[in-house]
Amino acid sequence: MRRPIVELVGTGSYTPPRVVTNDEFSKLLATSDQWIRDRTGIRERRVAGPSETNACMAQAAAKHVLADTGLTPLDLDAIVVATCSPDRLLPSQACDLQALLGATNAAAFDVGAACTGFMYALNVAEGLVAAEQARNVLVVASEKLTTITDWTDRTTAVLFGDGAGATLARPSANGRGILASYMRSDGTLAELLYRPGGGADHPPDEQLLKDHSYFIKMAGREVFKAAVLSMADACDKVLERAGLTAGQIDLLIPHQANIRIIEATAKHAGIPMDKVFVNVERYGNTSAASVAIALDEAVRTGRLQPGMKVLLVAFGAGFTWASLAVQW
Ligand code: UT7
Repeated sequence: MRRPIVELVGTGSYTPPRVVTNDEFSKLLATSDQWIRDRTGIRERRVAGPSETNACMAQAAAKHVLADTGLTPLDLDAIVVATCSPDRLLPSQACDLQALLGATNAAAFDVGAACTGFMYALNVAEGLVAAEQARNVLVVASEKLTTITDWTDRTTAVLFGDGAGATLARPSANGRGILASYMRSDGTLAELLYRPGGGADHPPDEQLLKDHSYFIKMAGREVFKAAVLSMADACDKVLERAGLTAGQIDLLIPHQANIRIIEATAKHAGIPMDKVFVNVERYGNTSAASVAIALDEAVRTGRLQPGMKVLLVAFGAGFTWASLAVQW
């Protein structure tokens, strides 16, 4: 096991107050509360209102981290935002967040790895600290996914929700922090989970609005299988790299997309469900924000205590997948 380069200190999250239950979807679409709960574990999700921008949610999560750590925005050397639903395509979400925070000493940029974005961003933060580019790196994952979700498509509409989570990466003290990490991608499978239109290859036009190609498209069953295999692979690899066994893990925080994927991942990793943090029933899939929100809730509810070993694992569009073993 190597000595950690960075530790994660302070956590924060924000979820919009508006709750949309499964029953609300069954009034709009050919679906039911029963189907959604049985197939996904989701009971409700949060939906941001027009004034709750991605940047505002990111700011709210970041403020908790600053309060936890006693830092001011001016202490931040870098801001890394993981998102696939930025408020606008240019400039980055991180620059808008930087302006809202008044973090004028920071370099700010986004990381695009969909639902795996928070994990990738933590790896980038570790690299910035290792290269002595930064000491205090704010890592935020924020999504307003419901604006890029097709509310007329029952196969995706019921799955996603909005929210943000954050933490701070800084040079490790006392052996705490990231013990090992693992990151992978497979771009050949991009079209199983993607937004076909709206980018430079298919700029916005009337056709895009007509065929809904601005929204997320997903081949659910294929993505499900890949998610289970990839998250299982990521758990194995990071445990091996950290020199840990599953029995030494105190808490698993997996990406919250589907309770069946979470259960299959935990089973493969050999981690009992009472050591797995689950909140998918309340938020649905918040993409990059998913693990970040869960991490904050685990800390605030006392599930994650100093001295514990926690395993973070995620899978998303790309495909991308990653895991981190952290001494908390
Ligand atoms: O965040 C990273 C990536 N995302 C994920 O990890 C999500 C991965 N995929 C999944 O979680 C699951 O595949 C879904 C929840 C999306 C779908 O569950 P499934 O058990 O894989 O269902 P399915 O796609 O095989 O569909 C079974 C049936 C289909 O009907 P037919 O063809 O058998 O007549 C679907 O049309 O269920 C139908 N269906 C629905 N029925 C009621 C699909 N969505 C719904 C719905 N309500 N909302």
